[in-house]
Amino acid sequence: MQEQPTTQGRDQFQSKLGFIFAAAGSAVGLGNIWRFPYLAGKNGGGAFVLFYLICVIVIGFGLMLAEFVIGRNTQLSSVDAFKKLDKRFTFVGAMGVLAAFVIMGYYPVVGGWSVAYVFKSILGQFSTDSAVMGEVFGALATGISQPILWTAVYLIANIVIVAKGISGGIEKASLVMMPTLFVLLVILVIRSLTLPNAIEGLKYLFVPDFSKLTGDVMLAALGQAFFSLSLGMGCMITYSSYLSKKENLVQNAIVVPTMDTSVALLSGMVIIPATVSFGFDLGQGPGLVFVTVPAIFATMGPVLGRIFGIIFFLLLTLAALSSSLSLLEVVVSYLIDNRGWERKKAVAGSSIVLFIICIAASLSMGAWSGFTIMGMNIFDFLDWFANNLLLPIGGIFITLYVGWFMGKDKVKAEVTNDGTVKFAIFEVWMFLCRIVIPAIIAVVLLSGIGII
Ligand code: PHE
Repeated sequence: MQEQPTTQGRDQFQSKLGFIFAAAGSAVGLGNIWRFPYLAGKNGGGAFVLFYLICVIVIGFGLMLAEFVIGRNTQLSSVDAFKKLDKRFTFVGAMGVLAAFVIMGYYPVVGGWSVAYVFKSILGQFSTDSAVMGEVFGALATGISQPILWTAVYLIANIVIVAKGISGGIEKASLVMMPTLFVLLVILVIRSLTLPNAIEGLKYLFVPDFSKLTGDVMLAALGQAFFSLSLGMGCMITYSSYLSKKENLVQNAIVVPTMDTSVALLSGMVIIPATVSFGFDLGQGPGLVFVTVPAIFATMGPVLGRIFGIIFFLLLTLAALSSSLSLLEVVVSYLIDNRGWERKKAVAGSSIVLFIICIAASLSMGAWSGFTIMGMNIFDFLDWFANNLLLPIGGIFITLYVGWFMGKDKVKAEVTNDGTVKFAIFEVWMFLCRIVIPAIIAVVLLSGIGII
């Protein structure tokens, strides 16, 4: 038998802003800057974006609040949180740990590309010619030792920060990274929108063509909402378990998705118009950011372009880092709280396994691309399996638990800090958790995988 989970001696976020930035740091990452634009490009633009926004507003807010309630109420990471609240739901926490593992099996590969591009910026390898940019990216992504090396560099950065624990590492790092990233994106939006023909890209991004809204496009948008907001897998449960009883959960559940969505939309407004303007392929998939953004820098001239390139990819790396830290933290805190491992051992043990999966994911972009699972290479399969399957299923059970099983009084007391904070739409939110959110997810999931 495991020991009863305890909350004693747990680290806590030292300031209100510290938590918001850490939670937003978890949410804002490759999901916003790398994945959102390429999915929007691939899935027909406006209709995808609109459905994504609906998912964020209806599901994102409600589910994030549900996760905050569970995490802060128990002060435990996800598996133990469910174990303490209701043993029958422990599997939801376990599924979340699995999802974190799966995502961390390819996320550092993209993080590694980003690190590599910092150096490519320094070397000034960028051009506005799509053939050149495609070649630069292809040579990196489909290579063997290079991408694995960069992945290792990226993973080591994660290991160092997570090994230091919450307030010492994650909080401090996030405080600096977030605001800087935002400013840079705004500058880039201006550059992108002043390129010739950029307006066509904006139209593509924001004018919905509903004929494009098929089941799998909707599932892609839903999965992206989960991925981008770090939901459905206990990450926000784990983070809010470090949150003090005085914090306003509702406010946090509004601020974090708002920041996250702003960054995604800004990135879309940088990348899609520029892609259209240069005449690059919008549907090219995971390489899009790494092809289009450097081309934007190339238009700025050798010196300015280089400086911007370095700053951008440095920030992309840091944004990715603050997200993967939270993924690693889900796995690590499980090993600490549940298995009684020491933090350093937990970090080292999980990282070794993750590195091996990352190597497979990286090779699947090139040397191993012939090996497919359900028609996808390893990289795409991990991405699809986590985001379009595990996270939505996790989301269904988390909201159902808070809606039906946790007990209305207990939920209300937690959300309102024992009645000291007002939450006017409590009943509406409960209804969302009980029926609306699980139902939407179930329908989209089933139609996305072709069952209905
Ligand atoms: N939200 C992060 C991003 O957008 C990824 C992530 C997913 C982090 C799930 C934690 C949990 O990059």
